[in-house]
Amino acid sequence: MESFINHEVQNQLKSNNIPLSSQFTIMYWIVIHKLKDGICLQEEYEFLMDLLLSHIMGPVFSIRLQAQYLSSRIFEANEISVNKLDNSQYAYMIKVINGTLQEIAKADDKSFKRLKNDYFIGEFDIIEDLIPCEIYWGLPQLVAALSNNIIEDDFLRNILNEIESNLNLDENDKFHNEWKEKRRKTSDALQFKARNKTINKEVESLEETGTIQKKYVPWKNMSDVDVYDNETKSNKTELIVVASLIAKLPNLGGMARTSEVFGVRAYVVDSLRHLQDKQFQGLSVSAERWVPVEEVRPAQLKDYLTMKKSAGYSVVAAEQTSTSIKLQNFKFPNKTLLLLGNEKEGVPCDLLPLMDHCVEIPQQGVIRSLNVHVTAAIFIWEYARQNML
Ligand SMILES: C[S@@+](CC[C@H](N)C(=O)[O-])C[C@H]1O[C@@H](n2cnc3c(N)ncnc32)[C@H](O)[C@@H]1O
Repeated sequence: MESFINHEVQNQLKSNNIPLSSQFTIMYWIVIHKLKDGICLQEEYEFLMDLLLSHIMGPVFSIRLQAQYLSSRIFEANEISVNKLDNSQYAYMIKVINGTLQEIAKADDKSFKRLKNDYFIGEFDIIEDLIPCEIYWGLPQLVAALSNNIIEDDFLRNILNEIESNLNLDENDKFHNEWKEKRRKTSDALQFKARNKTINKEVESLEETGTIQKKYVPWKNMSDVDVYDNETKSNKTELIVVASLIAKLPNLGGMARTSEVFGVRAYVVDSLRHLQDKQFQGLSVSAERWVPVEEVRPAQLKDYLTMKKSAGYSVVAAEQTSTSIKLQNFKFPNKTLLLLGNEKEGVPCDLLPLMDHCVEIPQQGVIRSLNVHVTAAIFIWEYARQNML
């Protein structure tokens, strides 16, 4: 049997920008199942234990706590596993961790309570729950999506049927067989419908109470996605947002989020390394995983803009210049490349002659200019309003 939980898997998760705490949870659930089925390899067990233990004294409290808690639970799961693996090297460490966790619990620590009650740690099950009907239907219940935002039964049932008919697994593979079996159970149409009815009643009564906050559900726009075909139909605009001159990570992260929300075709930054930065990620809330991000260094901007112009794009600078058109009077061409200026210097003089248009937001106050992300958001919205909505 080949090892599955290893550096390769961790690197894949990392390269998909999966946050560390989610990396822990994903690997944790796989190892828990493998231990339960008695098929976990010593090297897989050790890989995850070593990974978690390397974080139990790290600088971030929540990660430290999660690493302590999960390592203790995995240790216990191994203790009762049918094919118990060698635990001796971890026994002392886990004893110390359990002591610490007991103290934290006694102190009624809020973070610890939150961790234990976290759905993905306490209840989520990577086998039973990672199925289309949980993803498209169960999880929306969790975030209290309204009934009119929940995906239709028939669409779901079709996906489930297709997956089942395409599953071609090795009969001897316990992990995959468990996966297949649980999928069958949950895809049982009657069970699904009965459950659907009860919860929908609750949601309806919530809706009757009047105006309530609505959560946008992205898959409403994705019903034409063919699950077996990576070439999904695009709901992207023809807008390219160039942020290569922007220096501050919160601005870059925020602009990534705005770009994703409005279906920007490409988001251009001066270095892809920013995507790994915590400040960037704090504002982008994972947008970089959904919007295509390109790297263009400021020194390459001239060539890049010229190339896009010859590909039919109109290059528009958001900038206050002596010849700028007011935003409310500007009609965005469908193929627009929007260039934002640096927080301090704005758009450099040597790039201005390359612009097809300079557009500004008229101001009334005393402060000289808007924050660049605020500017980008207003421009992107206006482009979407004119061309997409
Ligand atoms: C803080 S401003 C740059 C500083 C500005 N050149 C100055 O010295 O006041 C950063 C960028 O935000 C955008 N920006 C800010 N206010 C704007 C406005 N009213 N209209 C259009 N763009 C604006 C431009 O892209 C600008 O280059």
